[in-house]
Amino acid sequence: MTWSGRKDGHEWWRHAVIYQVYIRSFADGNGDGVGDIAGIRSRLPYLKDLGVDALWINPWYPSPMADGGYDVSDYRGIAPEFGTLADATEFIDDAHMHGFRVLLDIVPNHTSSAHPWFQAALASAPGSPARQRYHFRPGSGPHGDQPPNDWRSVFGGGGWTRITEMDGTEGEWYLHLFAPEQPDLNWEHPDVAEDFDTTLRFWFERGIDGFRIDVANSLAKAAGLPDVGVDQSVAAAMYSLADHPHWDRDEVHEVYRRWRRIANSYDPPRIFVAEALVYDPERLARYLRADELHTAFNFEFLECPWLAEPLRRVIDATVLEHAQVAAPPTWVLSNHDVARHVSRYARPQSTSRTRTLDDIIDKPMDLALGTRRARAAALLMLALPGCAYIYQGDELGLPEVEDLADDVLQDPTWERSEHTERGRDGCRVPLPWSGQVSPYGFSPPNSAKPPWLPQPDYWRGYTAQSQADDPHSMLTFYRHALRIRRTFEALGDGPLVWIDSAPDVLHFSRPTGFECLVNLSDTPTDMARDSRILISSQPLTTRSELPSDTAVWLSTNS
Ligand code: NOJ
Ligand code: CA
Repeated sequence: MTWSGRKDGHEWWRHAVIYQVYIRSFADGNGDGVGDIAGIRSRLPYLKDLGVDALWINPWYPSPMADGGYDVSDYRGIAPEFGTLADATEFIDDAHMHGFRVLLDIVPNHTSSAHPWFQAALASAPGSPARQRYHFRPGSGPHGDQPPNDWRSVFGGGGWTRITEMDGTEGEWYLHLFAPEQPDLNWEHPDVAEDFDTTLRFWFERGIDGFRIDVANSLAKAAGLPDVGVDQSVAAAMYSLADHPHWDRDEVHEVYRRWRRIANSYDPPRIFVAEALVYDPERLARYLRADELHTAFNFEFLECPWLAEPLRRVIDATVLEHAQVAAPPTWVLSNHDVARHVSRYARPQSTSRTRTLDDIIDKPMDLALGTRRARAAALLMLALPGCAYIYQGDELGLPEVEDLADDVLQDPTWERSEHTERGRDGCRVPLPWSGQVSPYGFSPPNSAKPPWLPQPDYWRGYTAQSQADDPHSMLTFYRHALRIRRTFEALGDGPLVWIDSAPDVLHFSRPTGFECLVNLSDTPTDMARDSRILISSQPLTTRSELPSDTAVWLSTNS
C-alpha cells in the first residue's frame, strides 16, 4: 500500500480528513440512476485532487434498502446495484494505490428483516432458539395486543411490531428502534457477537482500514426491557436520560473492547469511528478509552448554531474530554442524516440545536449568507485539533434540496411520521458533476434511468466541472485549504490555545506558527498585521480588518 499523507504512517486517524461517500448518490457507473462502486472508482482522481486522506463508504451490502442500506441482509456481500465483491476488493486496492485509507460502515444494532436470521425467527415458534437472536416478546394487556413496553422508533411511531405466527394467529412482538424492517439484534446472544467478529475479519482481510459503527450506543438493552417512562416526543429524552434502558448503557463497552482486540491483531491495526449520539462529552469519551474505539463523531459540533459562544463551549468541552482519554477529537458539519449546513447556516441562528430539514424549513433563508458562513465554518473545522469529516457535496457548497415532491421521498421517516416530517432525502440528492442538465454527469450520457432522486435545475451552477477552474468557487477553496492543512505541521492532532478576542470572534493558535480567526459578529474585527495570510474564506479588501462571517488562517512564523 502506498500512503502519501503527511506524517507518514503515524497513526493517520489522529489527523486525517475523511470524505464521506454516500454511495447511492456519489457517481453512477452503469446508468441505472443509482451510484455504485464503478462510479466511485472513476472519481478517485477527483478525490485525490481535492486532497482528502481517507474515504468512508456508507453501507454497500445486500439490502432491501428500506433505510438506504442500513437494513443489511448479508454483511459479507455487496448489493448487486452497487457491484460485486470482486469490484469491492479491486476498489479497495485502487483506493489504496491512490493513497486513501478506506473505512466501511458496520451496522450492528439491527439487521434487515430480510436477513436469514430474522426469516428463521419468523418461521420458528415463540421461545425457540431462532427468536433469541432478536428481541421477541409477548404483547402486554389482556389480549397481548399492546406493545411490550413504551420504547419508540427513532423514525416515529412505536418501537415494536406484532407478527403473525406461522399458524396464522396474531403472535409475538419484536423490537425495532428504527424501521420495522430493521429488527434489533440481541447482543446477549453469543451468535451475534461471533458473527460480527467474522464480519470484521472478513473485511479487514480484504484490506479495509477500519469501520464507522452505526448507532454504536444502542446495542445493549437493560435486562427485562423496562419502560423508558418519560415523554419521548422530546428528542432530549430519547438520548440524554441517565440510565436509559437502551441508549448508552455501560454494558455496550464490552463489545468494543472485543472489537478493539480484533482490530489490533492486524498489521497495521485497523480503526473505528463511533456514531454515537451521546451528548454528554464525558459519556462520549468513554467509548474512546485506550482499549475501545479510536474516534467518535462530534454531533455537538455539527448541531451547534453559527454563534461564537456555543461553538467555543463545544470546542472546549470536546478538547477537554478527549484529552482525558488521549483520543483525537473529530469535527463534522454535515452528513447523510442532517440538513446540509449551507442551508442550516442560511437561517437566523438561535441557541437551539438544529439538525434536520424539518428543524429549518419554516425559517426564512438567505443562501448567500449560508454559503458565506459555510466557507468560514470549513476553515474553522479544518483548523481544529484532530480529524475532520467532509460529506460529499460539502466541497461544492451544495444546499439542502428542500422542495422534493412528496411522491419521490424515500426516507422511512416520511411514512413513519405520517407525513409530518420530510426526513433526510434533501441531503442525499445525487451529486452534480458536469453539464447543464440533470443528471449533470452523475450517470453516463444517455442513461436508461434518471437519478434516483431528482436534481434541481439550479444545480447547473454547482457542478464540479463548473467550479474546477473558478478561483472563487467552493471547490477551489476546499482544495486550497486542504493543501495548506497537509503541509502545515501545526494542523491536525495537537494543542489549541485560545487568544483573547472581541465578542463573537473565535481566535486561537495551533502551536507553532499558526492562527485561525473567525468573525461571527455583525461588524469587522481587527486582524494582526504582522502575520501572513494563508487563506481567507472571503476576499479581503483591507489587511487590517476581517469582515463579518469570515475566517482567516494566519502564519505567524514570518
Ligand atoms: C444512523 C445512520 O446514519 C442512519 O442513516 C440510519 O438511518 C440509522 N443509523 C439506522 O441504522
Ligand atoms: Ca449504477
